[in-house]
Amino acid sequence: MRAVVFERFGEPAGVREVADPHPAEHGVVVRVEATGLCRSDWHGWQGHDPGIALPHVPGHELAGVVEAAGARVTRWRPGDRVTVPFVCACGGCASCAAGDQQVCERQTQPGFTHWGSFAQYVALDHADVNLVAVPGELPSATAASLGCRFATAYRAVVQQGRAAAGEWVAVHGCGGVGLSAVMIAAACGARVIAVDVSPRALELARGFGAVEAVDASAVPDPAAAVRELSGGGAHLSLDALGSPATCAASVDGLRRRGRHVQVGLLPSADGTAPVPMARVIALELEILGSHGMAAHAYPELLRLVAAGTVRPDLLVTSVIGLAAAPDALAAMGSAPGAGVTVIDPWR
Ligand SMILES: NC(=O)c1ccc[n+]([C@@H]2O[C@H](COP(=O)([O-])OP(=O)(O)OC[C@H]3O[C@@H](n4cnc5c(N)ncnc54)[C@H](O)[C@@H]3O)[C@@H](O)[C@H]2O)c1
Ligand SMILES: [Zn+2]
Ligand SMILES: [Zn+2]
Repeated sequence: MRAVVFERFGEPAGVREVADPHPAEHGVVVRVEATGLCRSDWHGWQGHDPGIALPHVPGHELAGVVEAAGARVTRWRPGDRVTVPFVCACGGCASCAAGDQQVCERQTQPGFTHWGSFAQYVALDHADVNLVAVPGELPSATAASLGCRFATAYRAVVQQGRAAAGEWVAVHGCGGVGLSAVMIAAACGARVIAVDVSPRALELARGFGAVEAVDASAVPDPAAAVRELSGGGAHLSLDALGSPATCAASVDGLRRRGRHVQVGLLPSADGTAPVPMARVIALELEILGSHGMAAHAYPELLRLVAAGTVRPDLLVTSVIGLAAAPDALAAMGSAPGAGVTVIDPWR
């Protein structure tokens, strides 16, 4: 098969012929029809993820068709259209037993713990626990975002963030995750303040339901702008980029007893960022993390997609072939694009 491969962190990736994957006894191989380019792929390529072994094939946000299933797989067969949460759970640990597959103790992640979906085929573990059926009418380019960013945003806004109608929700960083969060929070009836440094991203955010937009490159203090626009601070705020600045601005923009959800990965191997803890104490703020979403939580999201209440299809701003993927991955370091870029490995 053809795949995007990198040999060293931060050095240009290339497209190569590599061996086809084989399914584990409990796993499947999926023929990849669409795979999104997520900033987490860029973090992996930069060497921010200690679990990646070289050479490596990135890609974790995918949709496709089951090509082959291992002997112990009972729920899936070749021909089934599927997506998969990028956190593939083991199904057997204490977290899985508690229903928290998104933080499974023995998780695997395509594109991180093993070769991923910037390829024509990808192997996925514990298929009975992890695969999610894609309804016939949902195109693969749209369904791919359910494997990572749209589902992650849903969990961050609805499950971890508990967004409620009438609340002010600030979203710092309006790329794939952030625009998904804007759309989902607006669908919850929240009043969304989009924060980004890209005018195009802010324009998209307004189109997806943000009532206010803050250009963080044009104001001295984006958190102060959020507090002013929301009459005292957001009830819920997300760092959907992942940087020390956006993390701190998200916490600083909250009102009393507000909730901060960290979604963006920090650009360092130890993933740390300074948090204004005096404010967390004095205002009784909540600091939460959000990590993908368990497969069993997908039906409620898929119902919203089927009803047209949320429109992940509108996030896809470009579809490219494998050959263009290495440059697109590298470009994330300098000039963030707007919306979601999807790779079709068969183009
Ligand atoms: N927690 C999870 O489970 C999970 C899942 C998916 C992605 N992520 C992470 O979420 C983050 C976002 O991923 P993405 O694919 O949406 O990224 P992206 O590159 O598509 O979007 C990032 C956005 O941030 C904006 N930005 C840059 N500097 C800014 C600033 N100073 N203030 C405000 N906005 C700024 C960019 O213009 C861009 O619109 C990444 O760190 C990614 O690794 C985490
Ligand atoms: Zn991702
Ligand atoms: Zn587990």
